[in-house]
Amino acid sequence: MSETARELLGEIEAFLAQFLVTPSKFGVAAVNDGHLVAKLRKGGSVTLKTADRVRAYMASERSKQPAAPRQVAPSHRVLLIIGGGIAAYKCLDLIRRLREHAIAVRAVMTKAAQQFVTPLSVGALTSERVFTELFDLDDEREIGHIRLSREADLIVVAPATADLLAKMAGGHADDLASCVLMATDKPVLVAPAMNPRMWLHPATRRNVTQLEADGMAFAGPNIGEMAERGEAGPGRLAEVPELIEAITKMLALSSQALAKNGGENRPLIGRHVLVTSGPTHEPIDPVRYIANRSSGKQGAAIAVEAAALGARVTLVSGPTQLAEPPGVEVVHIESAREMLEAVRRALPADIAIFAAAVADWRVASRSDEKIKKAAGQGAPRLELVENPDILKTIAAEKGGRRPKLVIGFAAETQNVIEFAKKKRRAKGADWIVANDVSPETGIMGGDRNAVHVISEHGVESWPDLDKAEVARRLMARAAKYFAELTAPA
Ligand code: CTP
Repeated sequence: MSETARELLGEIEAFLAQFLVTPSKFGVAAVNDGHLVAKLRKGGSVTLKTADRVRAYMASERSKQPAAPRQVAPSHRVLLIIGGGIAAYKCLDLIRRLREHAIAVRAVMTKAAQQFVTPLSVGALTSERVFTELFDLDDEREIGHIRLSREADLIVVAPATADLLAKMAGGHADDLASCVLMATDKPVLVAPAMNPRMWLHPATRRNVTQLEADGMAFAGPNIGEMAERGEAGPGRLAEVPELIEAITKMLALSSQALAKNGGENRPLIGRHVLVTSGPTHEPIDPVRYIANRSSGKQGAAIAVEAAALGARVTLVSGPTQLAEPPGVEVVHIESAREMLEAVRRALPADIAIFAAAVADWRVASRSDEKIKKAAGQGAPRLELVENPDILKTIAAEKGGRRPKLVIGFAAETQNVIEFAKKKRRAKGADWIVANDVSPETGIMGGDRNAVHVISEHGVESWPDLDKAEVARRLMARAAKYFAELTAPA
């Protein structure tokens, strides 16, 4: 297979997975050839002219219909190690499906894998940087192989080539993929894909027996036709739905095991964490409301993280586009007053985090009927009244009803730290997480956040991080503080 064909196939697979079109429809629409993708998948070649036409088609489709990533707070994290083999293209679809299941994916690619799909295509689907090099100083400082493994709930090796299996069985560690596999204490799922003769070779048989004895789980391979013409037998990568099933089963098992061991990774076991999140909608009439741009992503990520640390979590959320995070009790509300009521009902809590963008005002008297345009009378006047301040109300609770740690957020567009310090005092919060929500920061509704954590001891400024990482750090800090607070003297 020529380099052009291989690269083009990688780009096409990313496109198919992203836009959910069938290979034949794609081929017809791009170059009037319904067999194009099938031919490429079988190792066929392509002329430069055809490749250019296909790329031009993909570019024009992308500009027409930018694919919106599904906004789901991840429930689990998979580290996907992509080995080199023609089946590597299936990983693109696998990543897409995993994310649809609210499973975040970070990818490591071997050198050989990059011959079949590009890190660019993989990164486009994971929305994360793709890791390829062991000796990358930056990586080692920021996110080495130990951290790659630590931050995953499950490691999936797909496609696992005969060579990768041999390295794993022999305990080699000479590239990033094999180092991660040697250094991990997380469950590993291996999905082999290779030529049937290689799969049946005594060396591979020995390696698989060894890996099974080492506790690794296997999915596939399936029996079927190979990419090479005329070859058939065991060696096809398990189909994506089979892989998803194996992965979700293993994730469920590992969550149960973690819950049982109760140990040091779950410092919030037995604690109740309350989180408010998302916008509120303040009705004007049955069809109109006042709202704001909050996506609820940061609050949902905090709830997921609190649950991962063992807490029972209640997430009181305004209307958002997000899937409900698993393992969290979600109370859906619309208005600020409903949010306050739901929060009060959820008390007592050990830690309360107010990440919601609560509307400061509501319409004094909402109309029960849709307000009609009346000719000549101009626009209606809306009288606004102030909403209850939920954070301030709960922080002022007495008699053990005040959560031991009350964390507020401060959304500012100017003088961020100064205003947030004032807010902490005025609202009686222990900590305030301040962020700049000016439109140019992209924080409101986006995936990243740059925050300052303000407590009575001062200001801690964190770098620009994704919202999941902000949640992780915040909950780790909260769990530590809480442990110190409640430690016997
Ligand atoms: N908050 C709340 N109830 C409200 C308003 C805000 O619980 N009615 C909480 C938010 O969840 C957040 C904190 O108070 O944790 C600060 O919210 P923010 O919108 O930054 O501040 P406001 O009090 O609305 O002040 P301003 O809009 O004047 O900056």
